Amino acid sequence: MDKTSLINKIKEFGLNTREEYMAEAFSRNIGLLTQAEQDKLANAKVAIPGMGGVGGVHLITMTRTGVGNFHIADFDTYDPVNINRQFGARVPDFGRPKMEVMKEQALSINPYLEIKEFPEEINASNIDDFLDGVQVVIDGLDFFAFDIRRLLFNRAREKGVYVITAGPLGFSSAMLIFSPHEGMSFDEYFNIVDGMASQDQYLSFALGLAPRATHIKYMDLSRVDLESKAGPSLNIACQICSGMAATEAVRIILNKGRIKPAPYFFQFDPFLQKYRKGKLYMGNRNPIQKIKLRVVKKLLARNKWKYKPSIPEFPAVKITKESIPKKVIRYIIRAGIQAPSGDNAQPWEFSFKDNNIFLYLNRDADPSFFNINQIASIISCGAVLENMRIAASAFDLNTNINYLPSGIEDDLMASIELIYNETSINPLFASIWKRNTNRTFYEKKPISSIVLNDLKKSISDIPGIKLHFVVEKDELKKLAKIIYKTDQIRTENRSLHEYLGKMIRYSHKEAIEKCDGLPLKNLEAGFAGEIFLKATRPWFIMNLINKIGVGKMVALHSFQGIINSSGVALITVDGMNPEDFLKGGQAVERIWLAITQHGLAMQPMTAITLFWQRWQLEGKKSFAKKHRKLLRDVWEEYQSLFREVNIPKEGQVMLFRFGYGKEIKYKTYRKDLKHFFK
Ligand SMILES: Cc1cc2nc3c(=O)[nH]c(=O)nc-3n(C[C@H](O)[C@H](O)[C@H](O)COP(=O)(O)O)c2cc1C
Repeated sequence: MDKTSLINKIKEFGLNTREEYMAEAFSRNIGLLTQAEQDKLANAKVAIPGMGGVGGVHLITMTRTGVGNFHIADFDTYDPVNINRQFGARVPDFGRPKMEVMKEQALSINPYLEIKEFPEEINASNIDDFLDGVQVVIDGLDFFAFDIRRLLFNRAREKGVYVITAGPLGFSSAMLIFSPHEGMSFDEYFNIVDGMASQDQYLSFALGLAPRATHIKYMDLSRVDLESKAGPSLNIACQICSGMAATEAVRIILNKGRIKPAPYFFQFDPFLQKYRKGKLYMGNRNPIQKIKLRVVKKLLARNKWKYKPSIPEFPAVKITKESIPKKVIRYIIRAGIQAPSGDNAQPWEFSFKDNNIFLYLNRDADPSFFNINQIASIISCGAVLENMRIAASAFDLNTNINYLPSGIEDDLMASIELIYNETSINPLFASIWKRNTNRTFYEKKPISSIVLNDLKKSISDIPGIKLHFVVEKDELKKLAKIIYKTDQIRTENRSLHEYLGKMIRYSHKEAIEKCDGLPLKNLEAGFAGEIFLKATRPWFIMNLINKIGVGKMVALHSFQGIINSSGVALITVDGMNPEDFLKGGQAVERIWLAITQHGLAMQPMTAITLFWQRWQLEGKKSFAKKHRKLLRDVWEEYQSLFREVNIPKEGQVMLFRFGYGKEIKYKTYRKDLKHFFK
């Protein structure tokens, strides 16, 4: 609705002038504010730079409190990543300028508002205009917009304007007030000097904002990435910030009560039920602050090596029936390759034409003993298909998948036609970027039957696919023993051992250069385990260690993994053709994403299933003599656990363990998309 239509709508309710509307609309404020104060607010002008997490909600809170004039600034548009906290972020507004959306929202509350927009970044040439006639600035700038913040705060002090900043830190809000008449300036309080490194600026700001930080206790610091300017932030905290900052703004505009500017600080953390306030003498030059700065810097340096997958930006583009932008197709393929693959070999290739994506199997990517007849790689291709299908839904696109269109011998695994169909977004979409292999030990607590049934239901529409659970304690123990036996072969088979050595990325540098394989830390082997993996890399050492029986340590780790889980599941499919395993791979990924969505962890344990396929396809002779006897026993025990599965006839897609596990810190990488185009 435009401004005139909004005002006409108000008139339908018998309120014909601005004054009549303001009196009625804000009448419930009276009792906490007087009518004279309400009038003063109506004439006041508040500047809010930034319409994101806190800025957007500041504008709405001040509008509902009755402030009549605003200067607002923002140059950004809404993306899906804003949804968790930003007031104006709604799916219909993805791609729209934040400032335009927030102005619309504020006017729909009070169409008589005067709002001056600053669609460019605040800078030296527009700062005076931005502060012109303003009583209070409420800071809504991005945490990392340091230079602009510094310019704004210092200039506001010179021009006699108050500034309030309230930062959402964890569940808490940390607030400071900068007065033009008393207290410390921005530079004095945060101890900012020209030429400071940007990381030091951010840290100084964060530590000065919350001198008695409560959120550090429960926040995962590895999620703070000063280089890529990202960190965790909650809507809950943004709302608290707004309540605290707006209260101070009202006190300043109405001259009510004593204002306590920096070095006074105020922090409210409802998560820990703590309110902390005080006076930070000398600001960041305080000796205790200096020590804290040093400690936090060290902690962050350590976290630098913890990899967070780079989630590609969601393309804010319009799709029509006629054409799908390349950007969208690339995004869908990028989502595809976030899929799992044996040892992260990434055995796939792509091409696209018009609205069709073609997925090919790269037979050279995984030459391992495990990848019998490319089954492991085909399962991964199935997982890619599923990710692409789900990601397409985020663009109103349905998919028509044609499996093996050039026959079962060909590398072309599937063609995927994208069809514009205003479909609803698949709820598993967000999990594509969160899913990972979690090799830590999980809690042993049982998983509710509701969740187990939900997992079964999630794949019920894929023909021929079945999901079987082992959740009883005794049965899990039996299975753990079976896996213990099978996994001994992992270290006793030279080709398997050497291949693993090739796929482990022993240093962080190697991991980020190659962007495939398994970063050592991703294996969650612990300090001793990492030394073991490094030392046993040459076969002659591993062989020696096997001979003295210490090689069984690896299999023992698998045993413990199963024991420390809520359950194990087996996915099977009614056949053993490539199409069966492609569909099996789709089921694997769908279940894995659903497991992720339920907050659970998962780890494939595929030696047993892939050895079984090898036994079927290549015969027992493809195993060493001593392993043939071991495996014969294993198959018998295995069949006794999965009685309802016709093991010789059905394709074994994946065995995996699952449960409540702590989040992993070191994730796997993916090669750049350009490596996968044919
Ligand atoms: C067919 C297949 C077999 C796998 N087998 C195992 C396995 O036996 N043990 C394991 O820890 N991870 C296994 N994985 C997980 C991969 O190592 C993992 O997907 C890959 O390293 C990428 O990491 P991500 O899943 O965290 O994205 C398997 C994955 C696939 C697709």
